[in-house]
Amino acid sequence: MHYYRDYKIKTIRDVYRPAEDSLLLADNQLVKEGDTVLDMGTGTGIQAIIASEKASHVLAVDVNPLALKLAEENTRLNNIGNIELRESNLFRDLKKKEKFNIILFNPPYLPVKGKNMLEKAWSGGEMGREVIDDFICEFKAYLKSEGGMQLVVSSLNNPGEIMEELREHGLSVEVTAEQKISFEKLLLLSCFKHGNK
Ligand SMILES: C[S@@+](CC[C@H](N)C(=O)[O-])C[C@H]1O[C@@H](n2cnc3c(N)ncnc32)[C@H](O)[C@@H]1O
Repeated sequence: MHYYRDYKIKTIRDVYRPAEDSLLLADNQLVKEGDTVLDMGTGTGIQAIIASEKASHVLAVDVNPLALKLAEENTRLNNIGNIELRESNLFRDLKKKEKFNIILFNPPYLPVKGKNMLEKAWSGGEMGREVIDDFICEFKAYLKSEGGMQLVVSSLNNPGEIMEELREHGLSVEVTAEQKISFEKLLLLSCFKHGNK
């Protein structure tokens, strides 16, 4: 069991356990009252659970079916009623008309190749960018016109290049939190359309 503020987050072997990267995003979410939120790669459901405090509705997706089962258990454990869970590989099982005020993603970002579902929770392939790059190509279509996106990246992913890519998509980008851990630095990138916050 993991404890975050007053929340109990059950953990299991085959689903990513909340770690420094999870807390960096959980502590610095920019979700506002009444927002609709997409929690990409929900894992235990920790980001969705925090977002649900202010959000009107949270859609939490993951490619790992065991994560969705666990996240469902965690929403029940914490008596939360505004989280919808769905299995999806990135945006594949979302409809084009589903649009959000905020998209949150703590992605797999380590530059290693993962074989099983658990390893895929942290392995981002070459430079740790495979899932991040696919996500960046697609997320903007699912943002409302005033929407924003928060993405955890590592110093191992060439964050300057990721920020440049996001700016090329017409977004304002800021590092809104960072943390040094043993062999890398984690950065939380917060991006908005038209500079909204
Ligand atoms: C680093 S973990 C983060 C989990 C949780 N959001 C947190 O902050 O603790 C990344 C999560 O993304 C999921 N994931 C990996 N690739 C994905 C994809 N292509 N589409 C959806 N989810 C994916 C993994 O299964 C894992 O649960």
